[in-house]
Parts: sequence; structure tokens; C-alpha cells
Amino acid sequence: MTTDLGPSAVTATAVRKVYGDHVVLDGIDLDIPAGSVFALLGPNGAGKTTVVQILSTLIRADAGDMRVAGHDVVRDPDAVRATIGVTGQFSAVDSFLTGEENLLLMADLNRLPRRERRPSAAELLARFDLVDAARKPAATYSGGMRRRLDLAMTLVGRPRVIFLDEPTTGLDPRSRRTMWEIIRRLVNDEGVTVFLTTQYLEEADRLADRIAVLHRGKVVAEGPPEELKRQVGGGHVTLRFADPRGYDHAARTLDVMSRNDETRTLQIPSQGDLRSLRALLDRLDHASLTVDELQVHTPDLDDVFFALTGNPVTEQEPAR
Ligand SMILES: Nc1ncnc2c1ncn2[C@@H]1O[C@H](COP(=O)(O)OP(=O)(O)O)[C@@H](O)[C@H]1O
Ligand SMILES: [Mg+2]
Repeated sequence: MTTDLGPSAVTATAVRKVYGDHVVLDGIDLDIPAGSVFALLGPNGAGKTTVVQILSTLIRADAGDMRVAGHDVVRDPDAVRATIGVTGQFSAVDSFLTGEENLLLMADLNRLPRRERRPSAAELLARFDLVDAARKPAATYSGGMRRRLDLAMTLVGRPRVIFLDEPTTGLDPRSRRTMWEIIRRLVNDEGVTVFLTTQYLEEADRLADRIAVLHRGKVVAEGPPEELKRQVGGGHVTLRFADPRGYDHAARTLDVMSRNDETRTLQIPSQGDLRSLRALLDRLDHASLTVDELQVHTPDLDDVFFALTGNPVTEQEPAR
């Protein structure tokens, strides 16, 4: 492809990292345009955190060329640190301090001019929906609030590139959606670049302009979510019929992907969106077919890995 994606916020070439005889990264290439959201997708143990640690100068790669905001990660780590923000699996939040105190502490550490500290904290508390909790110790926060505070603290330093390592893992669906909105707004409003890691295809799909899939130390697919989903194929709907005649009729008239005559279930390709579900239900209604059970399956990480590698996703074993 020759599309001009503008200046790169992050580039990495042939990045390699080995622990003992465990090859965690076996030559990774990345190129992330500034002002975009990039998602590194992979199961537990794939090496996502390792990539984030290398790019954010926390650990050294064994080989490779890495640049963040134009600065060489190995030769100029201080310049890299000055332009990035990282929220990782280990939160920087101090549980004994209130949300506001945590933010003021960050403002202090970032040497914000004294008179800007309180306004900056207030603005971030408002933006992250933490005003009511501002004066309570972070120990009393829910998981979602903690993540929001963590991200708010990262922003105090006005980073241009933000690394979010599994920002929504362990959150309930509602907090996850709130987090997605916050991340999206961050990019849209401030033009920052977000590098996030995730185990969820849905999350990468919702947030990312580009996705890379990490498997056995290599990037096995890279591109916009639509491209990846096209490779993976859509989701499907499973229909179960109690009535054998209804089952036969449906099997003959619908666009069937696979069938199981014993359980009288059919799998129909579908993106799982309301419009296509409604169309399917209308067809069944018109044919007076009674469905006893309907399940919607949207593509997930499993489907991605199966489509790309022919293997189901498991916690990844060492690549040798
Ligand atoms: N400091 C370390 N020493 C030895 N092995 C490590 C170390 N850090 C990570 N690993 C191994 O590297 C692999 C990738 O880890 P990680 O980057 O944390 O994966 P992910 O974030 O995708 O779950 C795992 O098998 C992990 O056990
Ligand atoms: Mg990790």
C-alpha cells in the first residue's frame, strides 16, 4: 500500500526480545501514524506488555530500531519519556490519597507551574467523571474509577503518545464503554496518538484505526479493523429448532453456513447487527418457522486466531 499516513508517532523495525530460551518477540515491525489509535491484539502471554515496556523505555530490546515521536528509544530515552504517558497493568494510583491529591501530586512531579495545578486537576476530574469522588481516597474507588484516575494522571504531563496496556481488562461492560468514549475523545480532541493493547477484538474494532495481531512473537496481520474482519469473516447466528419439519425447511431456505442434524441447529452467517437480525427473524416469521433458541456470535479473538493461524487461541507457548 502506498497511502500517505502522515508522520509516524511510533516506528519499530525488527524488534526482538528473548527471555532465556523463550523468544517473546521475534522481529516485530510497527508504523503508527500520529493522531491515530493503534491496537496490539493478542492473548495472554503474547508479548503485548513487553512491546509497551520496550517502546516506553522501561526495558531494553535485544535488537531492533524503535522511534517514538521521532526520538530514538535506545539513544534518547529521556526525550521519549518526556513525550509519552503510560498506564499499565500496574496502576500509578496511590490508594491512600484522594483522586484530587493523586492528580496534584502528578502535577507536582511534572513541574506544572504552581498556579496551574489546581485548575488542571479540576479539569481532569471533570473530564473523567470523578468530581464526586475527588475528595475520597482512591482505595474506595471502583475498578473503572481507578482506571479513569490512572489515565487522568497520565494526562497531567500532556503526553503526545499514550500507551494503554489493556485499559479495560477486568472492567464491567459499562465501565468499559465509558473508557472507550474517553479514549476516543482524547484522540479526536487533542490529536494524541494512542497505542493500546487488548485481548478483545471488539475493543480493537471499536477504538483502533489500525490493528496488529501478535502471535508467536510475530505480527501475523496488520491493517484497519475492516480489513481484519474481512479476513476473519463475519459472525454468525445459531438457530435451534425443536420441530424437525421446521428445521428441514429452514435448512433448505436459509443461507446455511453449517448444520447439526442431531441438535437441529443451523449456523447462519450474520454480522449480528440489529438490521440483519431483524431481516432474518422476518424471514423466519414469513415462513411460519418457530425458532426455539437463537444465539448471536460476533467474531472475537478466537475467530481471528483461527482464521489467521488455523489454531484456536490459547495462552501462548514460548516460540522457539
Ligand atoms: N521479566 C521476564 N522474565 C521472563 N519472562 C518474561 C518476563 N516478562 C515477560 N516474560 C514472558 O514473556 C511472555 C510475554 O509476556 P507479556 O509481554 O507480559 O505478554 P502479554 O502482555 O501479551 O500478556 C510471557 O510468556 C511471559 O511469561
Ligand atoms: Mg500484558
